Amino acid sequence: ASTSSYDNILVTAPKPGVGLITLNRPRALNALSTALFRELNDALRQLDDDKTTGAIVLTGSEKAFAAGADIKEMKDLTFSEAFNTNFITSWSSTIPGVRTPLIAAVNGHALGGGCELALMADILYCSSTATFGQPEIKLGIIPGAGGSQRLTRAIGKSRAMELILTGKNFSGVEAGQWGVAARVFDTAEACVQGAIDTASKIASMSGVAVKAAKEVVNKSQDLPLRDGLEYERKVFHSLFGSKDQKIGMTAFAEKKKPEWSHE
Ligand code: CAA
Repeated sequence: ASTSSYDNILVTAPKPGVGLITLNRPRALNALSTALFRELNDALRQLDDDKTTGAIVLTGSEKAFAAGADIKEMKDLTFSEAFNTNFITSWSSTIPGVRTPLIAAVNGHALGGGCELALMADILYCSSTATFGQPEIKLGIIPGAGGSQRLTRAIGKSRAMELILTGKNFSGVEAGQWGVAARVFDTAEACVQGAIDTASKIASMSGVAVKAAKEVVNKSQDLPLRDGLEYERKVFHSLFGSKDQKIGMTAFAEKKKPEWSHE
């Protein structure tokens, strides 16, 4: 599907090798409805399959990255419907399988599912005025798309517990201080531009090495250290079977710029 066939997102290519997905449901502050997530997953899959895309940036508006799952859609949901439709599973069925690096550029509200979506990205950038939080407790529920797990891993148990039990927000500045965000920018524009520049830099590397690097770093979140180290070494060994290892090291020895084959 091309950009024009989406109702809730925009997909553009701001630089060669970079796909930019902009959540675009302004009247609901980018609340993550089922329809929006279906489009997001579709766009991510297409960009991931496109060999010319080396990195993806995901952003919202200056006012809201995403204000969470769509409360109006969830309001009358029953346990039976939630259970039988495996509600919200589709949120985490596509993104973890995307092999192209995903950078979230977070401005404005990133609440509930919006915060969880940002935490699913490989790299998170934000502006200092961004507002993160898991306010689900105030609605009588709990985070359902990884907040209790990814946020806790990112900032530690005590801080995560305080935020999740009180529904208190945290700022972009705190996200930077706590290591949730890799970089914090002064303005929304600088944040999105910074993410595009980093995506462009990643897209200029060997695609095969980039995918391998993303895979092994992500394993560190799942595996015990010993297994993670072994996994890394196996993938490291396997890269000596890639064309780009020969291209990269030969170029270094000959003092030339590598022309990657992405193979
Ligand atoms: N779902 C549905 N609609 C939402 C929404 C959401 N999560 N967040 C905002 N909207 C809608 C509002 O209802 C409003 O629509 P109307 O104009 O039709 O009334 C519109 O977006 C603008 O919102 P506000 O008027 O509230 O804007 P504001 O600037 O005064 O406040 C806000 C902004 C503080 C973000 C406030 O909108 C808010 O608190 N939103 C809800 C945040 C929230 O609780 N998110 C968690 C959802 S639960 C979840 O995500 C579960 C999970 O773990 C997956």
